[in-house]
Amino acid sequence: MRVTVLNGPNLNLLGTREPHIYGTTTLAQLEALVREEAHRLGASIHFIQTNHEGVLVDEIQRLPGTADGLILNAAAYSHSSLAIRDALLAVQIPFVEVHLTDVTARDEARRRLVFADLAVALITGEGPEGYRHALRVLLERHRGS
Ligand code: DQA
Repeated sequence: MRVTVLNGPNLNLLGTREPHIYGTTTLAQLEALVREEAHRLGASIHFIQTNHEGVLVDEIQRLPGTADGLILNAAAYSHSSLAIRDALLAVQIPFVEVHLTDVTARDEARRRLVFADLAVALITGEGPEGYRHALRVLLERHRGS
C-alpha cells in the first residue's frame, strides 16, 4: 500500500513551536517514527509538508494514481478550508485525519472540523503516535477491501 502523509502549516516548526502544547518531537523525528512503522508493516510512505492551502489542494489532487491512502494533518486549515474539503471529495482517496492535540477539548474555533466527516477515522490527542495509529487504520482498511 502507498500512503502519503500530508502536514499543513506550522508543523515544520514542531519541536520548538509551543512545546507545552505540541511537545518536543521535531517533524523529522515524527517522520522517522512513521517511516519505521511503514517499513514494519510493508507499506510505502511519502511525506509532504507545506504552509500553503493551495499546495495542500494541489497535493490532494495529485493523489489518484500515486497513493492508496492519505494521512492528513491540515493543521489550522482543518478548521476552515472548504477548498481542502472539495479536493478530498473530488479525489475520493481514503484518508485518516490526525491532530497531535485533542482539538475537541481545545478552544471553540478548533472544535469545528470542516472535513473530518469525510475521513475513515479521526485521531486526536495521541501526539506523534497518532500518525502510526493512522497508518495501521489505513492498512487494515486496505487489506479488508
Ligand atoms: C493541530 C491542531 C490545529 O488546531 C492547529 O492549528 C495546528 C496543529 C494538531 O496537530 O494538534 O497547527 O492540527
